[in-house]
Amino acid sequence: MPLRQRLRKTLVGRQILVGRLPTGPASADAPRGPDWSQAAPEWIDAALAHALEKPGGGWYVLGPREDFASAPKKVVVLGQELVVWRGASGELLAAPDACPHLGASLSEGRVEEGRVVCPWHGLRLDARGFRGWRCHAAHDDGVLAWVQLGDEAPTEAPILAPRPSSFIAGTIKALARCEPEDVLANRLDPWHGAHFHPHSFSALEVLERDLDQIRLRVVYRILGPVGIEVDATFHCPDRRTIVMTIVDGDGAGSVVETHATPIRPGETLLVESTLATSERPGFGLAKAFGKAVRPFIEARAQRLWVEDVAYAERRYALRMAAG
Ligand code: FES
Ligand SMILES: [Fe+2]
Repeated sequence: MPLRQRLRKTLVGRQILVGRLPTGPASADAPRGPDWSQAAPEWIDAALAHALEKPGGGWYVLGPREDFASAPKKVVVLGQELVVWRGASGELLAAPDACPHLGASLSEGRVEEGRVVCPWHGLRLDARGFRGWRCHAAHDDGVLAWVQLGDEAPTEAPILAPRPSSFIAGTIKALARCEPEDVLANRLDPWHGAHFHPHSFSALEVLERDLDQIRLRVVYRILGPVGIEVDATFHCPDRRTIVMTIVDGDGAGSVVETHATPIRPGETLLVESTLATSERPGFGLAKAFGKAVRPFIEARAQRLWVEDVAYAERRYALRMAAG
C-alpha cells in the first residue's frame, strides 16, 4: 500500500520508528560503555576548551530578527545597554542607549524616517553618529539579529554554520544564570539526552567523536511510542554557538543553532533557532503554512531548554562554588 511503503515502520522494543532510517554504520572507534562512563568530564572539558579557542568575530546574537521592528528596543550585551532599531531602508542599527546630549534612554523614544528620536529633547540620531556617540556594526542574517562589540578580532559578518536553502524557522529565547560556556558544555554532553529528556529522545548512541564534532544516532520522539531515527552532528562554528545538523534520515539538512550571548557576568541569553527542512513532497505545503508549524517547533525547543537551562545553571553554580 502506498502509505505503508512511504511510512517505513520498524518495531524496536516498544518503539515504533517511522520515516527514512539512517544508513551509515557506527565508527569502529565509537565510545563504548554506559552513558555515564562515555560522558567523561575530561573529554567534555577538552571539547569545550577547543570550542572556546575558536574566533567569534566580536558578534553577539540579540534575538530573532522579528524582535527588532521599527520601534527602538533596549538590549544588554557584555553589560552594555544598547538601543536597536531599523533604519530608513529596514537595515538593523545598534548604538549606545544613552543619548549623547544628557543621557536619556533612547529606547524610550521613537523612530522617525529611520532616525531614533530622543524622548527628552528630540535629538535625532542615525548611523552618521553625533559627537562621541557611534553605531556598532549590526547584522540581520535573515533569521537572527546580531551586534558586533568588544575587542575580539573582528570579522565582516557573523561566523555561520551552513543552513538549509529552504526551511521553516522557529526561534526561542531563555535567560540563564550562567556563562556562555555552560550552554556549550551542556550540548557537548549529548549523552544526557535520553536520560534527562525522555519525553523527546530515546536510544541515543554516540557513533563517533573528536574535538571538532560529535556524531550520534538518536530516536526523536514524535508522539507516544512513535519516533523518527536520525543521525546528527554537533559542532561549534564559533566560541558562543553550537549547532546540531541532521545528516542522515528524515529531515537531513535541518539544523538547530544554539547561541549564547553574555548579558553580564553570570547572566546569559540563550537563543535557539530550529531551521527545519525536508526533501519530502509535503514540505513545500508545510512551508506555506510555516506560521502555523512554527509554534510547535518552538514549544518543543522551549520544553527542552527548561531542562537544559537547569543543567547549565547547575554547572555554573558548581564552578562558582569551586572558585
Ligand atoms: S537627553 Fe537626548 S536630546 Fe537631550
Ligand atoms: Fe539537553
